Amino acid sequence: MTRPSAIPQPAAAASQPFSFDGPAVAAALDVALAAEPCLGARLRSIANHIPGRVAFSTSLGIEDQAVFAAIATADLPFDVFTLDTGRHFPETLETLEATEARYGRRIRITFPVAAEVEALVARDGIMGFRNAIENRKACCDIRKVRPLNTALAGANGWITGLRRDQSAGRAHVPFAEWDAAQGLIKLNPIADWSLATLEAYIKDNAVPINALHRQGFPSIGCQPCTRAIRPGEDIRAGRWWWENEDGKECGLHNRPKHKDADA
Ligand code: ADX
Ligand code: SF4
Repeated sequence: MTRPSAIPQPAAAASQPFSFDGPAVAAALDVALAAEPCLGARLRSIANHIPGRVAFSTSLGIEDQAVFAAIATADLPFDVFTLDTGRHFPETLETLEATEARYGRRIRITFPVAAEVEALVARDGIMGFRNAIENRKACCDIRKVRPLNTALAGANGWITGLRRDQSAGRAHVPFAEWDAAQGLIKLNPIADWSLATLEAYIKDNAVPINALHRQGFPSIGCQPCTRAIRPGEDIRAGRWWWENEDGKECGLHNRPKHKDADA
């Protein structure tokens, strides 16, 4: 693998706040993670080269369960959190409970701002996201994107379970990149994993997964916006199935690249 010494080193751990050259570390980590096949080693490399808080956002889907298993097994000090939108399947919350019990580690749960949800449902109705794409995006914004921004504030790194073969729109997901909008390094340590690799990891390590995955739900989001897929359908076909493929992101991952564009 590329030598860790090729990655710019953070300032001395004692100095607060941490100062580091985020774009340079991101570029070097992107190369280093690509050269390291082991997930645990990828995560240790992230922990060793990014100072301050590194957060891992888990949806409790199968990808994130694999990443969490590796984090918990290596006892890495990442800030693991999940966004509870208030509209999850019961099976997702059961997965959360089972995961905490299996690994003996608490997962931080964030909630949307109650007053914002109240204003949204007063305006659009409890199922208003079905009526217009703008409503759907407003709901995702209040229930997911704003809580994500709050959870990531002050972090230097953000780990996700994005994989390139999840959809055409994710085909070029890097291992690490500087996210100028969030002011942190975004890391996708299983970007290159196929579904077969992922499933083998889950099986080999007896990782608990959402029961819905075995009922035709390869990708699981909020209950009203997720359906099972039919044989041959794309793995994200069950997400916001009434919308065009092009726009089927909730805003967590298709944010503007630069703060100036974040209007
Ligand atoms: S989404 O944007 O369409 O909802 P997807 O379900 O594929 O995303 O998950 C991709 C990544 O987004 C996950 O690996 C995770 O890092 C993050 N993510 C998605 N939903 C949540 C959630 N509810 N809580 C925390 N992170 C999430
Ligand atoms: Fe709202 Fe559906 Fe987005 Fe969940 S996925 S936040 S219910 S619009």
